[in-house]
Amino acid sequence: MKTPHFLIPQEAFQKRIPLIFEKAFFVPDRFDREAFAFPGWSHPSLFGNDHPLHVEYCSGNGAWIAEKAKQNPSVNWLAVEQKIGRGKQIFNKIHKEGLQNLIVLIGEGEESTRAFFPDGSLTEVYVNFPDPWPKRRHAKNRIVNPRFVKEMLRVLKTGGKITLVTDDIPYSEEMISTVGAFKEFVSIYPEPYYDKNPEDYGGSYFHSLWVSKGKEIRLHSFQKRT
Ligand SMILES: C[S@@+](CC[C@H](N)C(=O)[O-])C[C@H]1O[C@@H](n2cnc3c(N)ncnc32)[C@H](O)[C@@H]1O
Repeated sequence: MKTPHFLIPQEAFQKRIPLIFEKAFFVPDRFDREAFAFPGWSHPSLFGNDHPLHVEYCSGNGAWIAEKAKQNPSVNWLAVEQKIGRGKQIFNKIHKEGLQNLIVLIGEGEESTRAFFPDGSLTEVYVNFPDPWPKRRHAKNRIVNPRFVKEMLRVLKTGGKITLVTDDIPYSEEMISTVGAFKEFVSIYPEPYYDKNPEDYGGSYFHSLWVSKGKEIRLHSFQKRT
């Protein structure tokens, strides 16, 4: 299959208009919300069907989600990545491997979600190895924060799950306390509320890096109460 050019028109940057093209959804910084109407996940320019939707935030080069999309063709997968270069790597994987059920959203995760994702439209959410921002003064940049979790509550279906994976112990503790503060989410794992070094979860660039350095990987998973 021929890979289309990854070309974001200058206008989208200049006028800050979101754009859908060739299985990519580009959401510029400080986008003009009024200039774009989200067509819905089942629109032909997105998935073209209403299969369950699983979203991965902070997808990096997309290795984990591309593998999941291949293994689970009856699920729709959305990769959310804010760096354009990494979004392009995911775009190339989609087209080279002919992954009809994978779309890449290139943009900031929380803002894009708040602006466009309909209520109760996601079945599962994953955040794999989000940037840990280890310095105290930078911790406010962590994607897993109360605002983000509140958004996840809005966009997940009842019974839907959010899975968070990290090698960073302070971030793991913050994930547990942040999600745990929402009574609508219940941890799938009993105390200490994570699974250590889970097998068969799937691989990614950062997963391999931290495993090769002997770091402990923690997987947390919470379900939206029925
Ligand atoms: C440490 S990397 C992990 C990448 C991948 N999940 C892996 O395991 O290899 C974190 C990624 O999250 C992206 N990212 C960070 N904050 C984000 C946000 N708010 N919205 C979307 N992407 C974000 C970064 O650009 C980076 O590619």
